Amino acid sequence: MKFFLIGMMGSGKSSVGKILSKGLNLPFIDIDKDIEKKENLSVKKIFEQKGENYFRILETKTLKKNKKPAVVSCGGGIVLDKKNRDFLVNNGYTIYLKASISNLKKRLFDKNDRPLINNNDLQISLEKIYNQRKSLYNSVANHSINTDKLSITEVCKLIIEKIEIEKIYS
Ligand code: S3P
Repeated sequence: MKFFLIGMMGSGKSSVGKILSKGLNLPFIDIDKDIEKKENLSVKKIFEQKGENYFRILETKTLKKNKKPAVVSCGGGIVLDKKNRDFLVNNGYTIYLKASISNLKKRLFDKNDRPLINNNDLQISLEKIYNQRKSLYNSVANHSINTDKLSITEVCKLIIEKIEIEKIYS
């Protein structure tokens, strides 16, 4: 089984994914990291030098290329493309990590590696992106977790419990 983690940038997908993959004894794949490795450039530089469209094409390719069971951390924009949404729905179990805008702000305010947000106007950037995407996240999620008051370990524990209850095998 593949377990996809989706949600806004800063929602904890990569941190949760790393620990969850250990708990489930599965490999961990971080789509952004895979793209950076292949291109030998940061995501931010790829956006700047080659454009968002180029990045989105690589994102779809990277999502689809791995056929084996794994925990996969997806970039926040993975749900924008219908092909990606169909892939998530048909190829695994998708967990949406929800976080409030105020929490996302706390996690992102000192980071400058996200090409789509303006750190001088974090609230507005995040609200705009969230409003465009929230129904898309919900439309593909098999399960959602509000992470605001939870530690990374607690989020992983809840996911593992849910997987056990639903008898989803890795
Ligand atoms: C993006 C989120 C980023 C990265 C890129 C675009 C987005 O990933 O893929 O900057 O469109 O929300 P994270 O969600 O891991 O920050």
